[in-house]
Amino acid sequence: MQREDGASSCCPLNDLKRLPECDRKLGPLKFNHVHTVLVDVAAFNDGKGPLPQRGRDMWNSNFVKSPCSPSSLMIKTGLMKSPTQTRRWDVISKQLSALAKKTAVSVDDVKDAIIKYNPKYKSQWSFDALYSFVKVMPKEENNFTKLVPKIAALALKLPELVQKAIPLLRTGHSASITLSQAQISCLLANAFFCTFPHRNATSHNAEYHNYPTINFTSLLGQWSQLKKEKLRAIMYYFQVVTDENTKPKGLVTFERRCLRDQDVSDWRNCKEKPPKLHVTTHGTIETEGTGLLQVDFACSSIGGGVLGSGLVQEEILFLMNPELIVSRLFTEKLAKNECLIVTGCQQFSLYSGYRETFEWVGPYEDRLDRDEWARLKRQILAIDAVNYKHRREQYDMIRVTRELNKAYCGFKRDGHNEPDIATGKWGCGAFNGDPQLKAVIQLMAAARAKRGLAFFTFNDEKLKQGLQQTHHLLVTQGTTVEKLFGLLEDYCAVQQASSGSHVDLFEFIGNSVRPSRSQL
Ligand code: AR6
Repeated sequence: MQREDGASSCCPLNDLKRLPECDRKLGPLKFNHVHTVLVDVAAFNDGKGPLPQRGRDMWNSNFVKSPCSPSSLMIKTGLMKSPTQTRRWDVISKQLSALAKKTAVSVDDVKDAIIKYNPKYKSQWSFDALYSFVKVMPKEENNFTKLVPKIAALALKLPELVQKAIPLLRTGHSASITLSQAQISCLLANAFFCTFPHRNATSHNAEYHNYPTINFTSLLGQWSQLKKEKLRAIMYYFQVVTDENTKPKGLVTFERRCLRDQDVSDWRNCKEKPPKLHVTTHGTIETEGTGLLQVDFACSSIGGGVLGSGLVQEEILFLMNPELIVSRLFTEKLAKNECLIVTGCQQFSLYSGYRETFEWVGPYEDRLDRDEWARLKRQILAIDAVNYKHRREQYDMIRVTRELNKAYCGFKRDGHNEPDIATGKWGCGAFNGDPQLKAVIQLMAAARAKRGLAFFTFNDEKLKQGLQQTHHLLVTQGTTVEKLFGLLEDYCAVQQASSGSHVDLFEFIGNSVRPSRSQL
């Protein structure tokens, strides 16, 4: 027990349950009506590795529209000829085959190829980030001209590698997709070359307006120093996955989970007591939290600004683990009672800094064990907090309950032997939340889910001390979630009545829970 800062009921990090120790038996890989597996399950269970599952193309609103679908057409115009309809994949494969055959490719070549099958965007898309990237990279690290042909060759494997249609993970439906890391790399190579049809329009009535973007258009344009660091991370990923000796051979599962109606509003009757808590100013969720369920401080559009200018916790996580980016292809915007859990993605890179000081530092060799489904033992939980324009908006029980349910949706256990949770100042950076309120909300959600919490305050000493003291008080007083919910109702009422001045939540809880002198 840690007692440097006064009384504490917190535990050391080692007391929390982690993978791989708390592993559960999965049995053979299997699919069902809510779990689509894109590799051949029988072959996989026979030890033949992840071979593509055969299947049919689907060109409708329930599936990802594949760049190589026979239904994907474009109008071809010739100088002397009248316009004709042609299969878009024919144009894509002609362009990418030409790139794949070259020994040295220039940015002009990449741009010309991409525009050939996206002619509508000729004057809109800028490739200046890619031009500047190639220009500023030091010679010894600049393998662009040799790497791009390999990425093109990987993208061209799509018809062979992904034969079964990929279902969309749609709002309101709990469902999972398991695919191989090779399939993910091929899909991301297609994203790099902006081949996905119907995914470029962003207007409100566009077919995929409720999905994140997936084509890399915005990554390749709008140069900034930070784009350079992003591109270094992405190009390094492609270097690894296009090399026969280093390309990863496992599987990854993406699970969209919706909280059922009956689970939503039971906070008033929850008799659970505070969970195990480890709180620290040092370390990060992704490093010191290895083996725990690691929270991604997400955007409802999964991945947030990873392909654009964003560069905070979620974007950095996606750049270090680029396989996460493929979730943008099939994950509809998360609704208030939904989350995404990714099992098995690989870390490829190391970084330093944060936001404007972010830098790609170099390769990371991921040494995690794999589970029976060949997935690395890493679980990432994407939950999106509410983005508050005005901080005062959050002191409202409708909002508090929304956040409780969102966190609980992700924290809720799926079996008996699940790891504890690694989190921190969820919703308290770009999204402007109150760290004390969010910490209490996450404690309540973890208590209800009967899981311990490792809380990384990211150098915030004051929050660490306050949280430790509050947790100690709640533990010693045996305060239940139900009681805390009532306290938050009172707190919000006081906060709203306080016309502008801020009431400190930890102090409020302390004054409400601590036994008065007369009771002692
Ligand atoms: N480990 C622990 N704590 C961290 C880490 C880390 N690796 N990185 C940052 N923090 P933020 P939000 C702390 O702003 O407010 C993205 O664009 C640090 O103190 O990323 O939920 C998403 O796509 C930081 O201030 O999360 C969303 O659109 C705080 O966590 C949006 O940002 C919050 O990190 C989400 O914003």
